[in-house]
Amino acid sequence: SDTLGIALIGCGTVGGGVAHVLIAHADRIAQRAGRALALRRVVVRDPHKPRDPLIPLDIISTDIQAAIHDPNVHVVVELIGGTSTAKQVVLDALAAGKHVVTANKALLADAGAEVFEAARRAERSVCFEAAVAGGVPVIRALGESLAANQVTAIQAILNGTSNFILTAMAERGLSYAAALAEAQKLGYAEADPTLDVDGSDAAHKLAILAQISFGVAAKPHEIARQGIDTIDALDIRFANELGYTIKLLAEAWTGGHSHSGTGAKLSRGGASPAAQLTGTPTVALHVAPVLLRHTDLLAQVRGAYNAVLVYGDVVGETLYQGPGAGQMPTASSVVADLIDLGVGRAQRTFAAARLWSREGRGFTVEPP
Ligand code: NDP
Ligand code: HSE
Repeated sequence: SDTLGIALIGCGTVGGGVAHVLIAHADRIAQRAGRALALRRVVVRDPHKPRDPLIPLDIISTDIQAAIHDPNVHVVVELIGGTSTAKQVVLDALAAGKHVVTANKALLADAGAEVFEAARRAERSVCFEAAVAGGVPVIRALGESLAANQVTAIQAILNGTSNFILTAMAERGLSYAAALAEAQKLGYAEADPTLDVDGSDAAHKLAILAQISFGVAAKPHEIARQGIDTIDALDIRFANELGYTIKLLAEAWTGGHSHSGTGAKLSRGGASPAAQLTGTPTVALHVAPVLLRHTDLLAQVRGAYNAVLVYGDVVGETLYQGPGAGQMPTASSVVADLIDLGVGRAQRTFAAARLWSREGRGFTVEPP
């Protein structure tokens, strides 16, 4: 039949939400995709854990390969996390001729080039809207809606857990440890929450945004990174008394050019006339806690929300904001990717092989 068959590899926080939405909203989704989307297999580590009651028990297993190679499965959704088994799942799925949807920013930051090269060879799509900013459609914004622009700068809150912790400490007086425990309970944090609080997760997401905005494959050491794990209640109190809010910002600034060595960072306008004359334009990437005035746009972003400010040379400044972590916001983006695959739109949009390896923009990453 014309039905798009789906295998879900991983059914925890995000996978559970995806399964629920696919089943609970099957009619709406079929209408929008122009055909039915059927959840055919769910693969987990522990088949005895309780799952969403909507998921038929007979489709749950621990057999990844059987799910990938099921002829009635056309799309493999990787939601187990990490960079080893997850990478193999994605590469095996592509080799088996299946499209892939993933929310795995660590994997894409680490092995994006290899994954998208495999996708190109297999002539299949890898969709990843959920990998950056959860429910906020920022990949589509950068990859499609702003396609007429050269992005000149990005300033973003990209880690929901860190923003949740900072907000809870500032507004509710929670300790760092209590706030982190709450973020974990709410399903915002990574399996290893160190990745959230030491800035790694935000750096992974910044690397993805830098790849699709500037065509650069930033290596981890090229992103200066500091997390919120050294911030204590006193820092937050003093900042507040002085009129500032502490936020973990991920930023990309263009404006330098490699031949000069240091490249001045411009605030909003892109490369200066002098910088445009010679040399390769550079982009500086960093993640760090910064002090923002209470009145700044990004200072208003609370809880597990994310926000991405993008400066484009045609459009000017645009802002994307919304829930950046958690079960249903992330499921919203994963299911949107599945609908795009159902429609056949993913080929046109970010059959990301093209988007990922967009060359000819000439940027290099400025050393931190
Ligand atoms: P969870 O830890 O909640 O879920 C992981 C799922 O994968 C579980 O169902 C687990 O099985 C299964 N799993 C793990 N290892 C294996 C394995 N080797 N074989 C089969 N199944 C396995 O993670 P999340 O849902 O929070 O995150 C999933 C992905 O989504 C990650 O890449 C994460 O970074 C990303 N993401 C998460 C967001 C969030 O808000 N949580 C937001 C955006 C992206 P079992 O249930 O049996 O333990
Ligand atoms: N742990 C991540 C966060 C999940 O807190 O932002 C969303 O990618």
